[in-house]
Amino acid sequence: MLEGKRILVTGAAGFIGSNLTDALLYQGAEVTGFDNLWNGRMENLESAQQNKKFIFHQGDVRDYDRLLHLMKDIDIVFHEAAFISVPKSILMPQLCNDVNITGTLNILNAARINDVEKIVFASSAAVYGDDPTLPKQEKMRLNPISPYAVTKQAAEAYMVSYNQAYNLNTTSLRYFNVYGPRQQGSPYSGAIAIFIANIFNRKNITIFGDGNQTRDFTYIKDIIKINLLAAESKESAGKIINVGTGKPISIIEIIKFMIEYSQKEGIEIEYDPIRAGDILHSYGDITLAKDILGFEADYDVFRGFKEYLDFYRKKFYSNT
Ligand SMILES: NC(=O)c1ccc[n+]([C@@H]2O[C@H](COP(=O)([O-])OP(=O)(O)OC[C@H]3O[C@@H](n4cnc5c(N)ncnc54)[C@H](O)[C@@H]3O)[C@@H](O)[C@H]2O)c1
Repeated sequence: MLEGKRILVTGAAGFIGSNLTDALLYQGAEVTGFDNLWNGRMENLESAQQNKKFIFHQGDVRDYDRLLHLMKDIDIVFHEAAFISVPKSILMPQLCNDVNITGTLNILNAARINDVEKIVFASSAAVYGDDPTLPKQEKMRLNPISPYAVTKQAAEAYMVSYNQAYNLNTTSLRYFNVYGPRQQGSPYSGAIAIFIANIFNRKNITIFGDGNQTRDFTYIKDIIKINLLAAESKESAGKIINVGTGKPISIIEIIKFMIEYSQKEGIEIEYDPIRAGDILHSYGDITLAKDILGFEADYDVFRGFKEYLDFYRKKFYSNT
């Protein structure tokens, strides 16, 4: 349990950061949330803000002095803040680099100087790129094909090197496609959030490619679960660990399931050319997560989608 621990969550107003914040507060931790609100929303922190153990600071991970000060009394850092969009990273690689690499280095330096116990970093399966080998294993050669993926690879390498050079307890978690409540349905965010919004608004769904591309969709509750496990683990120091269900599903199969489960009619699937930087097939080998952290996903894709769809229906469409 993380009760009484003083925890910094960067990207706290975002999808994963806000869910993590709620889980940490539930465990009795004292949480400092940090976010520049580029993509995050204060409404995600509504329940956290009711809790006396939560404090929010608006700020940027590129601001080292701010982080140095903020981390004075922090035990554990969950570093979720990032420039998250693959397509935008192709348009703005320098900005992506500044936030994801320099920002991460700022976190590490501030943590080192303040003797932080543990840093858990949100990396991405994007680092594997388009190498066709499946499932993706942590030790395989990385082949990032977007600036975003390069920044995650570099940030992971910094995490490992700060463990080696300064004995900081760092762990990088390579998330495979995450979905769940609070994910935004913008053109640059997760596909699932877009599909759900379209289904409920009875809009057609556009797929990039033929729909046979596969993903390892991971439910937010499993992401939270492994973050909490990693936070308390010594064995994961200096490690990079896949987080997924270990089971792929095609985009077309999941869209069909979602349309059927939501019982909406008249929604067509449209096909657009595949986007630069997009990967065809991806799912993770999660043996390491099991061996080091005792992690196994509780949610297969159908259970996760049902819970997410029910949440969505209740929150936005309680009369449908
Ligand atoms: N959602 C996924 O499928 C997925 C997959 C792999 C990795 N990740 C990683 O997980 C982390 C969280 O992603 P998410 O899906 O919750 O995205 P999100 O956009 O909802 O959350 C990221 C948060 O970081 C904040 N932020 C951005 N730049 C910042 C800066 N310079 N300083 C401070 N805050 C800043 C944003 O305002 C946002 O609230 C990211 O590091 C992302 O790369 C997510």
